[in-house]
Amino acid sequence: MGFVGLTLAVFFASKNNVVYGIEKDPKRLNSLKNGSPDFFEPKLKNLVLKNLESENLMFSKNIEDFIEIVNYIFITVGTPTKNGKIDLKFIKKIITDIAKLLCTSKNCPVIVIKSTIAPKTTNEIILPILEKISGRKIGKDLFLSTNPEFLREGTAIDDQFNPHVLVIGTCDDRSKQKMKNFFKSLYSQTIPRFFTNFATSELIKYSNNAFLATKISFINSIANLCQKIPGSSVDDVAKIIGLDPRIGPLFLKAGPGYGGSCLPKDLSSLITVFDNHGLDSKFFKSIENVNTHQVDEIINIFKDNLGNFTKKTITILGLSFKENSDDIRESRSIILIKKLKNKCQIKVHDPMAIEKTRKLFGDKIEYFSDVTESLKNSDCAIIMTPWNQYVNLKDFTMMKNPIIIDTRRILKNTKKIKYIPYGKSKN
Ligand code: UGA
Repeated sequence: MGFVGLTLAVFFASKNNVVYGIEKDPKRLNSLKNGSPDFFEPKLKNLVLKNLESENLMFSKNIEDFIEIVNYIFITVGTPTKNGKIDLKFIKKIITDIAKLLCTSKNCPVIVIKSTIAPKTTNEIILPILEKISGRKIGKDLFLSTNPEFLREGTAIDDQFNPHVLVIGTCDDRSKQKMKNFFKSLYSQTIPRFFTNFATSELIKYSNNAFLATKISFINSIANLCQKIPGSSVDDVAKIIGLDPRIGPLFLKAGPGYGGSCLPKDLSSLITVFDNHGLDSKFFKSIENVNTHQVDEIINIFKDNLGNFTKKTITILGLSFKENSDDIRESRSIILIKKLKNKCQIKVHDPMAIEKTRKLFGDKIEYFSDVTESLKNSDCAIIMTPWNQYVNLKDFTMMKNPIIIDTRRILKNTKKIKYIPYGKSKN
């Protein structure tokens, strides 16, 4: 019942299916039973409560209690990476547990892999474990599908109800038919669906995230150039090249770099996949490099405008890796804090992610739930996450120096301050 699992569970339940959400962590399980997810996602809590009430959604620790009655089992465990190597321990464990249960079960549920995995994993690891331990045969009494996820944090519910595409990987006709039938009951026919094999579906997911990362690193590189070219504006460049239908307008917002639990992880896994196949991965490495250096670009802007860090107080506005989320995994703000915390005094504000950040930095930095308080006596504020509430900020008189570095260029009232929008140079 992590991010993808819970979102999927409420979606299925809202479409009038009976859903058992399996969660092993007792604390998280308890909060879910009380209708309280332990992370923030717009619209999610309401849907959890609504579906608990209608009894379409139930939470439990044990999959064994339901193995005889379920038609589909969606696997949504994490697949973290370490140094680009994907760690399959969670997915191997759950697949092994299910395979063991299938040994004695009469039921034939379709096992659907939603977790992001490297190409070949289903064919070479998941399917062999399932067949060997369960003693079953794919397409006969064992059914398996991959179904990569494209939802974004912050808009997960809307993305789940209205995906731009459905990708279904199978290697036998019966699994394919069962997936076809289920998805027909869930999604409007207008949503394109693509049936393919396991390897292609796995590669689609990696390619999709890698391409998004490419667009961001591309525009960030242009923004870095704009920093050096008087009068140039990265937003104008992005707007106009985005009008070319071959390019498209989305994912061209320059900023401090992409974060989160997906883009950085999937790109580094893809690099490993290239390396493992003896292929040149330098294209993808350069995308990663641009992203890694983005925080230093922001630090350089600070230095150019304020000199050194000695005796300075900096306010960081926004901690989550994107707006409308409390997720700080791979957040550029967290990296910025790590780089600056021993050099100057740091005050931080975020509407949602304070508690998670406090767990990382303890009393090394100061936390504020009120923006005005966070700005008091600061030498500079850096807007890192484009939360809506920062857009209309207008009073900066409480700052020692009203200098604002806006990495997302969202601030509207910029007259009475020294405003430094990243990627936009003065004439
Ligand atoms: C990403 C993909 O967008 C989803 O399609 C995918 O399902 C998901 O990963 C996943 O693999 O589970 P997510 O990480 O939730 O979704 O968020 P994004 O909206 O992709 O944002 C990622 C990062 O890129 C954020 O830090 C965001 O601020 C940054 N970003 C995004 C930019 O800097 N500029 C942009 O134009 C867009």
